[in-house]
Amino acid sequence: MRFPAEPFRIKVVEPLRRVSREERERLIAAAGLNIFGVPADSIYVDLLTDSGTSAMSDRQWAGLMVGDESYAGSRNFYAFERTVRAIFGYRHVIPTHQGRVAENLLFSSVLKRGDIVPNNIHFDTTRANVEHQGAEAVDLVIDEGLDPVADHPFKGNLDPAKLEALLAAKRDRVPLVMLTITNNSGGGQPVSLANAREVSAVCRRHGVPLVFDACRFAENCWFVQQREPGQADRAVAEIARELFALGDGCTMSAKKDGLVNIGGFLALEDAGWAEKVTNLLILIEGFPTYGGLAGRDLEAMAQGLTEVLDEDYLAFRIGQVAELGRRLDEAGVPIVKPVGGHAVYIDARRMLPHLPQALYPGQALVVALYRDYGIRAVEVGSLMFGHPDPVTGEMVFPKLELVRLAVPRRVYTTEHMRYVAESVIELNRRRERLRGLRITHEAPVLRHFTARLEEIADAVPAPRAAAGGAAAERASGGAVPTPRRHPCP
Ligand SMILES: Cc1ncc(COP(=O)(O)O)c(C=O)c1O
Repeated sequence: MRFPAEPFRIKVVEPLRRVSREERERLIAAAGLNIFGVPADSIYVDLLTDSGTSAMSDRQWAGLMVGDESYAGSRNFYAFERTVRAIFGYRHVIPTHQGRVAENLLFSSVLKRGDIVPNNIHFDTTRANVEHQGAEAVDLVIDEGLDPVADHPFKGNLDPAKLEALLAAKRDRVPLVMLTITNNSGGGQPVSLANAREVSAVCRRHGVPLVFDACRFAENCWFVQQREPGQADRAVAEIARELFALGDGCTMSAKKDGLVNIGGFLALEDAGWAEKVTNLLILIEGFPTYGGLAGRDLEAMAQGLTEVLDEDYLAFRIGQVAELGRRLDEAGVPIVKPVGGHAVYIDARRMLPHLPQALYPGQALVVALYRDYGIRAVEVGSLMFGHPDPVTGEMVFPKLELVRLAVPRRVYTTEHMRYVAESVIELNRRRERLRGLRITHEAPVLRHFTARLEEIADAVPAPRAAAGGAAAERASGGAVPTPRRHPCP
């Protein structure tokens, strides 16, 4: 046993349905080769996301029974507020039904057209919500963070020199800086405390508020404790308190480190911002003491935020993900290293070098994993982030072409993980048989959720494109979708 065994036992079970290969083939075809369109009960191991998929504890379920569903002033809200203040330290606690609403409320209240929001790497909903305000989302992760093989303990770090340069030139257009912990879109990589201190110092020097995207804060702080010199003797909760004291607020999707199936919040220090956000909250989500949730959800969230800081839980959680990564790595499957907190990311460009990014190698891998093994993963690459350049109209592809195997919290056993590892290893052995894809339908924003694709019949591999744009378009034989201007206002 290379990682701590489950620090819990199973009290309730949920049967899994075995689905034949023929049925999987039919289902993924009907979904337009988009894994989001496959019914969840036709999936054996669902690694689509770690978001909202946690198993709640007996205490969280018990918490549902003490839900106070009063419209205003529910006792669960006050318990929730106390817990958030104790962990995160910010005065104003504003519940929302999930993380993207916290983002939307914040950006609607403080951004205007032409503004810039720096971040290590924006998660897709964060980017979309920034752009929805007519503002620009800029990613300033350290260079190692974009190199899938660079061995760096904190690849989520934001480059303080890049931030300094941006603020020196354009401070008046930057109403806030974000820092995503852990950095989901860059491989679930943590941010060090030292880096957060540096980023905070740059922000303070320029008088710009720093807001954390705190979805996986406990996992991030676990890595700080494990990897950062001088932090080994501190409790994860203590590290979290220091980290958040460096900023002015956070957005939170509690569907991750809140260990709940729905819930989120915004916590802010500034009373002016909090008032603006609260006014909008009443319009969009509901009264400030429930914010789009039931009282019982707030209770479960408060309990989950406490449980997530349990270090036995964190050792198992991070250990389970690391073990999946170790098995794949040892068998020669190219993965992002070091393994992040919530997921193992396969490097699809390296695994499928015969498919240029314009042929969506990441998505091709996702389709094969479901069709052949009943495993659901998600592409974090050219389908999710590819877009036409607003000036030239040429397709721009992200630097990373990843497939994420996100591990839900407290849901799958070690044997499930072994099945996943063996399946991916087997698929890797016959990888050259995977064919490229082309998009047949796409929505103007967040297209990966609803896009439809088809396999390119001609199995002859196209030459490898060095980068996106015209080269990739030529390499794909014109398979790139017609360039469209970005539709965000
Ligand atoms: C880093 C990050 N930020 C924000 C969000 C959005 O949260 P939600 O799905 O609750 O809206 C996610 C969700 O996966 C995320 O990973």
